[in-house]
Amino acid sequence: MSFTAESIPSQEGKTFIVTGANAGLGYETALALAQKDARVVLACRSEAKAQKAKSKILRSAPNADLHIELVDLTDLDSVKRFSDNFQSKFDKLDVLINNAGVMVPPYTQTSDGFELQMGANYFGHFLLTGRLLEALKKTEDSRIVTLSSLAHLQGSINFDDLHWEESYSKLKAYQQSKLACLIFTLELQRRLEAAKAGPISVAAHPGVSPTELVRHVPNLMVYVLTPLFLMVSHKPAKGALPTLMAAVENGVQGGDYYGPTGYNEMKGKPGTAKIASHAKDEEIAKRLWEISEKLTGFQYQI
Ligand SMILES: NC(=O)c1ccc[n+]([C@@H]2O[C@H](COP(=O)([O-])OP(=O)(O)OC[C@H]3O[C@@H](n4cnc5c(N)ncnc54)[C@H](OP(=O)(O)O)[C@@H]3O)[C@@H](O)[C@H]2O)c1
Repeated sequence: MSFTAESIPSQEGKTFIVTGANAGLGYETALALAQKDARVVLACRSEAKAQKAKSKILRSAPNADLHIELVDLTDLDSVKRFSDNFQSKFDKLDVLINNAGVMVPPYTQTSDGFELQMGANYFGHFLLTGRLLEALKKTEDSRIVTLSSLAHLQGSINFDDLHWEESYSKLKAYQQSKLACLIFTLELQRRLEAAKAGPISVAAHPGVSPTELVRHVPNLMVYVLTPLFLMVSHKPAKGALPTLMAAVENGVQGGDYYGPTGYNEMKGKPGTAKIASHAKDEEIAKRLWEISEKLTGFQYQI
C-alpha cells in the first residue's frame, strides 16, 4: 500500500515541532499531523502568519492540539529562546522537523554574520537540533527530520568563503545550504549511532512543489517558467509526503533520505531518494560540524 497522508496511523500522544509551519510544505506537514491527532508546535517567525495557519488547520481538524512558538532561524539568540521555552513547556519531543527555508534572496547577512541562506536553512537548524537533543533523547523512538533538496546534487561547501563575502552566487549559496543540511543529517546519525543514543537522524526532499519559496525569484522569470514548472512539479500536499514518511513511517532507519520517486525525483510517490556521493564524504562532514559548533558557539552533547 502506498504512503499517503490518509494512511498515516494515529499520532495521538506524540509531539512534533515543524519549523516554517505557516506556509508551503511546512503547513501541509503540520496539517497532516494535526489531522492524525498529533500535538504540533508551529515554529514560525511571524505570530500573525502562524495564527492564520493555526486557524486554517483548525477548520479541517477542529480538535487539533496546536501550539505556536516563535523562532527566527536567522538569529541564534531567538533559536536559544525557542528551545528553552519549548523545554520549559513540554516534557517530550518525538519528532523535530527542520523544514523552514529561504531560496535565492539578495545578499543579506544575518545578525550573527552568516549569509542568509546558510543562516536560516542550516546554522539555525544546526543549533536548534543541538539544543533540543536532550528532549529528543528523553523520548523513545524520537527522530530528527531535516529538509534537503535536489539542489544538493549541484552543491559544494565553499569552506574558503562560507559566508559568500568575496563573491555571492545566490543559487550556489542555496545549493550549499541544502547540501549542508544533508551532510549534517548523515553526520548527526553517525554520531548518534556511535554514542548509542536513542534518536535517529533522517532527511527528506519534496522534489519540486509550487510554494512561496520562489518569493525571491523575479516575477517575469516565474511567469515564463510557470507552464514548465507545473509539468514537473506536484502540489505541496504531495511534496510534504517524503517529510511525513521520514517522520512517522515504521521501518525508517537513521541516515535514510526520502523524496518523490517519479522522473528525476521531481514528483511522484514518496520513497528512497538518491544521496550524492559528496554528501557522504565524512571528512567534509567532520570539518563542517567543527565549524558549525564554533560559529554557533554550541558544543553538541550526544
Ligand atoms: N518547494 C520546493 O520545490 C522545494 C524543493 C526542495 C526543497 N524545498 C525545501 O522545503 C522547505 C520548505 O520550503 P517551502 O517550499 O515550503 O517554502 P515556503 O512556502 O517559502 O515556506 C518556507 C517557510 O520557512 C519559513 N522561514 C523562512 N525563513 C525563516 C526564518 N528565518 N525563521 C523561521 N522561519 C523561516 C517561512 O516563514 P515566513 O512565511 O515567515 O517567511 C515559511 O514558513 C525548505 O527547506 C526548502 O528548502 C522546497
